[in-house]
Formats: sequence, C-alpha cells, structure tokens
Amino acid sequence: MDISIIGAGYVGLITAACLAEKGNCVINCDIDEKRINMLNNGEIPVYEPGLEDIITMQMATDGVNTPNLRFSSNIAESVKQSELVYVAVGTPSNGETVDLTYLWEAVSTIARTVNDKKIVAIKSTVPPGTSDKLQRYFNTLDKKVIVVSNPEFLVEGKAVESTKKPDRILVGTNHLGDAKPVFDELYNPFVVREGSLMYMSPIEAELSKVGANAMLAARISMINEIAMLAERLGADILKVRRGIGSDKRIGLQYLFAGPGFGGSCFPKDVPMLAKLMQENDVMPYMLKATIDRNKVQKKVLPYKIIKRFCDKEGRLDEKVFGLWGLAFKADTDDIRESPALDVVEELTKRGAVIQAYDPKAGKNASEYFNELIKSERLKIVDNMYQAIEGVDGLAIATEWDSFKSPNFGRMLERMRTPTIFDGRNLFDPRIVKENYFEYYPIGRPAIAAEK
Ligand code: NAD
Ligand code: UGA
Repeated sequence: MDISIIGAGYVGLITAACLAEKGNCVINCDIDEKRINMLNNGEIPVYEPGLEDIITMQMATDGVNTPNLRFSSNIAESVKQSELVYVAVGTPSNGETVDLTYLWEAVSTIARTVNDKKIVAIKSTVPPGTSDKLQRYFNTLDKKVIVVSNPEFLVEGKAVESTKKPDRILVGTNHLGDAKPVFDELYNPFVVREGSLMYMSPIEAELSKVGANAMLAARISMINEIAMLAERLGADILKVRRGIGSDKRIGLQYLFAGPGFGGSCFPKDVPMLAKLMQENDVMPYMLKATIDRNKVQKKVLPYKIIKRFCDKEGRLDEKVFGLWGLAFKADTDDIRESPALDVVEELTKRGAVIQAYDPKAGKNASEYFNELIKSERLKIVDNMYQAIEGVDGLAIATEWDSFKSPNFGRMLERMRTPTIFDGRNLFDPRIVKENYFEYYPIGRPAIAAEK
C-alpha cells in the first residue's frame, strides 16, 4: 500500500518503519527539514531499541526499485502519492488541554493537496470528538476525504515490539465500507490475536485511547499513594505490590511505586480528559486525584534529599549530588516531563551542584538545561561512576538496567557521603546495608548508615 505519514517523531517514525518492514511503500514527512536531512543521511533522531536496524534495512535500495521507506519535507507531494495518509504530529499540552495547532496545520496541508478519494488516519492523541470535527472540515470543503481515528498505543523503550505485536488496534470510523477493506489488509500482519483489530466509532476509539492512559496513570498514582503510607508504617511496597497485584482481577503491571509518572503522554492526556469531562458536566474526581498525587509524588525524591542535607535555611550550598538517569523511564532518550527534571530543578535552586549521567538522554538534557550547564550548576558526564565522584549523595531517577548491579565498593571509594536516594527501588536493602550505605528508597523503610 502507498502510505504517507505526517510527523517523523517517535510515533510517526516507528509506525513508518514497521509498516515499511511489512512491504508497504511509506513516505514519512515532517516540517522539520533538519530532522528529514538527518534521516536521509542515515542518522536516527530518537533512541528506540531495534529502530535503527529496521530503518537502515528499509531505506536500502537495490538501485532498481524504490525503497520501502523514504523521508521527505515535501508534505504535499508525499500526500499526493499515497492512498492512505497518517497524521502523527505532536499534540503538546497547553496547560489544561492540548494544543491542536500542528494537527490543524497538517490537516489543512492535506485539504489543499487532495482532490481524489483519500483516507486520513489520525494517530496523534486528540480530545474525543476531534476526528468528527476534522471530517466536517473536509466535508465543508467538498473533499472526498474519509477521516479515521487510529490511536497509537506504543510504549517508549519498547516501541518497536509494541508496534509489531500490539495488544489491540482500534479503527474508529463512520465509513466502515470504505475503511474496513483498507485496514484489514494493512493490519493483517499485526493481528496477533483474533479480535485484536477492532472497529468502532471515531469517538469510541479516541475515548478508548485517552481512557487507557488515564487508567494506567491512575494505577500508578494509587500505588504511589499506598507507597507513601507503607513508608510511614515500616512496610515494603514491593511486597505489598505482590500482595495486591497477585489478585488476577488486579494484576502486577503498572504497580511500581516510583518518582511519579513522566513522559509526553500521561501528564498531558489525563488533564486533557479531565477538562473534556468538565466541559460535559462530568466531575473528574478520579482524574484530579491522579494528577494531584503525581504532582506531589514528583517532589518526593528531591525532598528526601533536601530533608537529609539542607541547612537551617533550607539551602544546599556547597553540596554536590550525583544523578543516575535523566530519561522519564529506561530505554529511551526522551526527557519530556521526566521526574529527573524535578530533581535537578529542586536541588540546583537550593544551591546544589548536580553531576548527572544517563546512557541515552544526556544530549536532550544538555539542550533542555542549557542555562544550568553554562553556569556549571549541572554537569552531564559520560559514565555512572564519574557522576558520583566526590558527591554527598546519589539520586536514582531512571531504572536503566546498567544501574541495577553497581559495584558498591567502587561507589564507596568515590562518594563523600555514601547515601543513595533510590527513586526506582533498584536495590535489595540488605545488600545496600551490608555495603555501609544510607539508603532512602520509595515506599520502603529507610536504612541509616552502619556506624
Ligand atoms: P514528537 O514531538 O516526537 O513528533 C512530532 C513530529 O511532528 C515532530 O517531528 C514535528 O516536527 C512534526 N510536525 C509538527 N507539525 C507538523 C506538520 N504540520 N507537518 C509535518 N510535521 C509536523 O511527538 P510524538 O511523541 O511522536 O507524538 C505524536 C502524537 O502521538 C502525539 O499526539 C502523542 O500524544 C501521540 N502518542 C505518542 C506516543 C509516544 O510514546 N511518544 C504514544 C502514543 C501516542
Ligand atoms: C504510555 C502508555 O503506556 C502507552 O500505552 C501509550 O501509548 C503512551 O503512554 C502514549 O500515549 O504516549 P509511555 O509514556 O511511553 O507509554 O511509558 P510508560 O511505560 O507507560 O510509563 C509512563 C510513566 O509511568 C513513566 O515515567 C514510568 O516510569 C511510570 N511508571 C510506569 C511507573 O511509575 N510505575 C509503573 O508501574 C509503570
């Protein structure tokens, strides 16, 4: 199938790569010419395990046939060549709800370009009701465009795997006769279970998408809240998690207490859904609680450090802290809404210096914290042991595998005060204690240093 995908970010790029791998002819386009040039030069602008190999293979040409995957900044031309157009542009938060400017820009480019019959599938996460609005827009212009909601459920860090073997694929359409043959054919190689390709109305697909994110975020806020009580009562949240999640009705996934949820989606989609509820006279009690707990939770890790080290004025002058992890979760270079950002901001604003290391997100963090780096309040270093050289304490914000079995002896030699603030509960408290560390996990009793 000839496909164009507007937006070459995490979603657009991964969708393009995975559809090309199944034999489709895909043009992934973006207004960001620098990004398109990078891609055409074989550089992958985002880190996602397995992605580079697929892109390299699908861009390769035998000199005769067009490769399955191409990149272009000519959006109109790409749209013209395709029977199916995906829109995968960003829908960033504008505080309360989401900013649909990029979506409307992409859609108006399509409207200016197409005259023949075309399916436009919306992958961007949008407030329920948006696809119907877009359909009305094309109808008013007398365009033969069919708008379909096809929300994306990929999980960063496992994006290739979750795209190739999705739990479900939702196609929201009011034009089943036109849409079903196209999507049945396209998604057949991705259907891993009978019934996992589901047709419904656009609003149902859109609401399923944001409802799923809200449900997952609520579970995390719930376990984080229970973790705070566990900590006070001297219970271990990891044992409590198993105690709760072993109930088949509950399950063990998305029950890890931590430094609060981050990423580009939960923090923007939950408030967006709450706003939409209010507009429709539904009080979003659950969603508000989810958001409120997360706001507080993101301060738990930095405040453990502040409480342990600050002076009478609440300052951390002269203190230096190591930080392992800048990404919002492991296996990604994405730092959007990462809890690590709260650690950096809270500690540096009180006078501390941070030495941070992340296996993949260092570059994005350097750009984000440009000013702090210039003023030498933040140093981003090249390895995890360099980050703890001469520090008063170490904060762990991301659960990268490479942090899970450190050489504690090497750590002790480097740290001024052997204190670990573990936002991800990576270590067995017994082993940390045997190695003479003070240890402050989340939702588990703290361990004071052996005298
Ligand atoms: P992103 O910011 O990584 O990428 C968006 C891309 O769109 C950028 O490269 C930008 O230059 C491009 N763009 C913006 N306006 C454009 C236009 N008019 N024409 C062409 N290109 C344009 O965003 P993302 O993380 O890929 O997310 C995209 C959408 O998918 C969002 O709505 C998001 O909520 C949703 N989503 C994201 C994920 C995820 O894990 N990142 C998962 C599911 C859904
Ligand atoms: C999430 C959803 O899982 C995807 O299904 C969805 O497509 C995507 O949002 C989206 O709409 O963009 P993602 O943000 O990539 O995916 O990452 P998650 O693995 O869901 O983690 C989100 C945040 O929750 C991270 O900060 C993570 O550390 C945190 N988390 C996750 C916990 O604190 N505890 C857990 O048990 C699980």
